[in-house]
Amino acid sequence: MSLLETCALRAFYGDFQALFDIDFRIDAGETVAIIGANGAGKTTFLRSVIGVLVGSPEMVTFDGDKVGGLPAHALVRRGIAMVPEGRMLFPSLTVEENLRIGAYGRRTGAWDLQRVYRLFPILEERRNTPSMQLSGGQQQMAAIGRALMSNPRIMLCDELSLGLAPIVIGQIYEGLAVIAAEGMTLIIVEQDIHRALAAADRFYCFQEGRVSLTGPAAGYDQAAITAAYFGV
Ligand SMILES: Nc1ncnc2c1ncn2[C@@H]1O[C@H](COP(=O)(O)OP(=O)(O)O)[C@@H](O)[C@H]1O
Ligand SMILES: [Mg+2]
Repeated sequence: MSLLETCALRAFYGDFQALFDIDFRIDAGETVAIIGANGAGKTTFLRSVIGVLVGSPEMVTFDGDKVGGLPAHALVRRGIAMVPEGRMLFPSLTVEENLRIGAYGRRTGAWDLQRVYRLFPILEERRNTPSMQLSGGQQQMAAIGRALMSNPRIMLCDELSLGLAPIVIGQIYEGLAVIAAEGMTLIIVEQDIHRALAAADRFYCFQEGRVSLTGPAAGYDQAAITAAYFGV
């Protein structure tokens, strides 16, 4: 059985329908990429899964339970954590304070400050620095660390590489590989097709609120992905 599944998931902003009947599944321990152009509905999908956008119960199944429509805090407690686009750290709080906020209401498990600092040693060096003084890459590491502090069973990562230099993106993705190797289930949303597919077991391509293509990441068909991504 899949760890997380959506069935005919729809999402609306007022009268505007942003997602149409999304069927998605991810098994425990898998890394699944969601790729798609700007505006395709990737963030809306993640926000629907974590309960920020209200859905109906049967739309989302987590660990066998229908959880669609539960509030976001209830889903965090069940083990769904988001690394949001834009990182959303508290700017005047230090790195360590931001990480401790992630631990509020945490599940029991192996992730703690020490383990996050081992994953991203720069965060320990900068533990007493307000997060607004961090580089973009360090902020992204802190945002990942904050999500890990809740000891999630699945992490939803939205555009981790946005605005970062290639070398820094490489460091972030090395960290993700470690997290995945330790058994975490990961959904990674990216506009960068190659980066996402290199890290993932499978992918879904979104186009205008629909799944336009899905399949294994290894040996993907470049032409098919280009068509599914751009709709040409
Ligand atoms: N808060 C909002 N209110 C109204 N429309 C929105 C809102 N957020 C996103 N949208 C619209 O929903 C669609 C999907 O957006 P989004 O999920 O942010 O796409 P992506 O993350 O793939 O770039 C777009 O057409 C976008 O303009
Ligand atoms: Mg987005």
